Amino acid sequence: MLLRPDLAPAGAFPAGFLWGAATAAHQVEGGNVNSDCWALEHAAPSLFAEPSGDAADHYHRFAEDIAIVADLGLNAWRFSIEWARIETEPGFYSMAALDHYRRCIDACRAREVAAVVTFHHFTQPRWMARLGGFGAADFPARFADYCGRAARALEGMAAACTINELNLPLVAGRYFHDRVSPAARAAAEAALGAPLSSFFLFSDEAAILGQGLAAHAAARAAIGAERPGVPVGMTLAISEEDAGPGAEAPRDARRERLYAPFLDAAAGDDFVGVQTYSRTVSRADGGAGPARGAVLTTMGWEDRPEALGAVCRWLSARWSIPIMVTENGYPGEDDSRRAAFIATAVEGLAEAIAQGADVRGYFYWSLLDNFEWLLGFGQRFGLVAVDRATQRRTVKPSAATLGTLVRAAGTAGTKGAGLPLIGPSGAHRD
Ligand code: BGC
Repeated sequence: MLLRPDLAPAGAFPAGFLWGAATAAHQVEGGNVNSDCWALEHAAPSLFAEPSGDAADHYHRFAEDIAIVADLGLNAWRFSIEWARIETEPGFYSMAALDHYRRCIDACRAREVAAVVTFHHFTQPRWMARLGGFGAADFPARFADYCGRAARALEGMAAACTINELNLPLVAGRYFHDRVSPAARAAAEAALGAPLSSFFLFSDEAAILGQGLAAHAAARAAIGAERPGVPVGMTLAISEEDAGPGAEAPRDARRERLYAPFLDAAAGDDFVGVQTYSRTVSRADGGAGPARGAVLTTMGWEDRPEALGAVCRWLSARWSIPIMVTENGYPGEDDSRRAAFIATAVEGLAEAIAQGADVRGYFYWSLLDNFEWLLGFGQRFGLVAVDRATQRRTVKPSAATLGTLVRAAGTAGTKGAGLPLIGPSGAHRD
């Protein structure tokens, strides 16, 4: 096990810094039968390698999972609530589902863990997909209505993320589309009763830039009206963008297209969630991908923990939005490499902060090995392994590394109270 507490000297991270791990409802809860994703998993042929099934049965085991977070010495947990469970049909809200998520927050508070809640993490009710998903003109209004109802019930959230990786359909480009055979597309559209673009990952760019950004703004207002003082932001998938020989212009163009419109829109938010896993190198021929000859992870990404600090530095140089690192992680079986990845990523973050980046938290993705969307369960990002037959959890050594870094950073003393450094308008409260 790699233990390098020297990498996170006390003082490198501001007081009240959130140290956490993240999950998303559909990837861990299990039995999300009313969601569009479930319908797609069971289409034949399916775009998905396998169905999510019971996933990590987190819906029933949340207390055990929150206890793991707390026992690791982390002071925060990011999770998502599932719209498909909460608004089962248009306008029909399940009080039982909202009570469930309130119990999740209560369990966090009992262990002094700050609950950072995401309202949309890729999945939505089947009925919303049938109406067109992000492509529907009334998507912003419907999403905001759900957000307001949920926020009213969720007393005690420390922070809210409206939409997870709103820019992902742009970043992914053709990636998902190119993996779909005509037969799988036809089966998917029959299962959804709508074009495949009604499922978030396949959304059109125009829908994301139009209804998507409008939905974020409407959700921010709806959550803010119910829970004034709770910081609200969206999260974005942001790769470190680099340029091969003579490729500065295509690199800059990628930044302008994939990130700038979203960061401009986030300017008034309390924070922006940064989700960085790797680096993308632009080439002069117009292509982009991992650096030539780089070591790749099991996801096919460059193994590049330094990407996180680089993204925070780049973002802070142009936008003055407080940053919360809402995801960063290493996919692979080699847990000692995961531990080293975390240590290097956190070191890079400390350097970015020392150079002036305003970073308020770091959430490792993911707490649990889980359902990696179209790829199924084969990818392992977790700090905690899950035996899919018994649902038994086994904490990996890399989790202890993160715990050691947090203790060395000495900032997790401000437990559970929320984000003391972030005010409703993004202003410092210190
Ligand atoms: C998503 C997660 C996903 C992770 C790894 C992010 O794009 O928010 O749901 O599992 O990256 O691919």
